[in-house]
Amino acid sequence: MRIILYTGKGGVGKTSVSAATGLLCAELGYRTLVMSTDPAHSLSDSFNMKLGAEPTEICDGLFGMEIDPFAEIEENWAAAKDYLTTLFASQGLDEVAAEELAVLPGMDELFSLLKVKQFYESKEFDVLIVDCAPTGATIRLLNFPEVLQWYMRRLFHVERYVVGTIRRFKREIFSVPLPDDAVFDTIQRMYANVDEMRDILLSSQVTTIRLVLNPERMVIQETRRAYTYLNLFGFHTDAIIANKVFPEEVADSYFSEWKRVQEAYLEEVEASFPNLPIFKVRFYEHEVVGIESLRKMAYETFGDSDPTRIFAQDEPMQVLKDSDGYALVLTLPFVSRSEVELYQKGDELIIRIGNFKRNIILPMTLARLEAVGAKFVEGKLHIRFADRRGAQRKAR
Ligand SMILES: Nc1ncnc2c1ncn2[C@@H]1O[C@H](COP(=O)(O)OP(=O)(O)OP(=O)(O)O)[C@@H](O)[C@H]1O
Ligand SMILES: [Mg+2]
Repeated sequence: MRIILYTGKGGVGKTSVSAATGLLCAELGYRTLVMSTDPAHSLSDSFNMKLGAEPTEICDGLFGMEIDPFAEIEENWAAAKDYLTTLFASQGLDEVAAEELAVLPGMDELFSLLKVKQFYESKEFDVLIVDCAPTGATIRLLNFPEVLQWYMRRLFHVERYVVGTIRRFKREIFSVPLPDDAVFDTIQRMYANVDEMRDILLSSQVTTIRLVLNPERMVIQETRRAYTYLNLFGFHTDAIIANKVFPEEVADSYFSEWKRVQEAYLEEVEASFPNLPIFKVRFYEHEVVGIESLRKMAYETFGDSDPTRIFAQDEPMQVLKDSDGYALVLTLPFVSRSEVELYQKGDELIIRIGNFKRNIILPMTLARLEAVGAKFVEGKLHIRFADRRGAQRKAR
């Protein structure tokens, strides 16, 4: 199966490009599902037909769906939610607020994304196109499994044991309700699902991310940042879709100035993403709604290329060995060394850039060594590891 995620700044054309790609895939004979995980759905508007929360047939071989996050929460999180609601209510919170708190921010989208795993396993479709929320939310979402993993590793295994013991012996002395097995099972199942989903999304043979942008300053900046963070978290980006490009034939003076500006920005886009193909899509004289418009968009975007192809393959994380020892290499374009903070704690390496933090569990070879320095070589961060017991742990 092939999974393609589209993300980009708000309003750049993610939904339209997702729908168009889906249509082209179906016309090339792939059984295709286009789904949106953005809670603000607009896939129905794009296809100009009502899509349900389950795959709805649009035309031959093409299906669409708009995930209902509330139904997903009920299905995946009910026992934990009920428990947390009772827990918060027992602490004096009113019922409605307690219920709100029982679902962590971002969890609704996380459960939506779990659908990816379900379809991957069911093998019902050859291609899955995911119309994601705008970049910021998508990156937080893609990083959520790692954050969750971190908490679970530290809290959960210990806690289940402790709670089990307490429950058996001392139930009466606690004023808070304790979680029962159904709650733990729910959490454990979710954890396992999220973990497996993460593997699917990180698999370079299956999943790639495409960044949709418009030739505008702010959009390009946000896209560059998104690309850095996607690399940081190990996701594979394989193309840029530059949408809403004014076509050649624009002649009137008002738009010809815009065209000139766009051309300059397109050069910047090309310079920013030298390893990625850039598919240009023109600014149509009308909105892109309905099968006919989407088909036109799809063929003009991809031409003769099969949109399911993996257009670029860059290894975001590698371990290199040379005479000095080992280096962990991460592709992190658009970042300077001073923006990167590194901390090592045992087998864990924490990389912080701005508001984002990644906890990398180091491979065995590196875990027994220490990070002793880091430098940038052509957009790649080389973190050097050496055997220096007792060396200063914080490598800056
Ligand atoms: N190449 C294009 N030419 C003309 N109109 C376009 C083009 N691409 C998208 N549009 C229109 O721009 C609007 C926004 O597009 P779309 O909904 O696909 O963006 P989005 O990135 O999904 O937005 P959101 O962030 O709100 O989800 C829609 O009305 C769409 O029809
Ligand atoms: Mg959209």
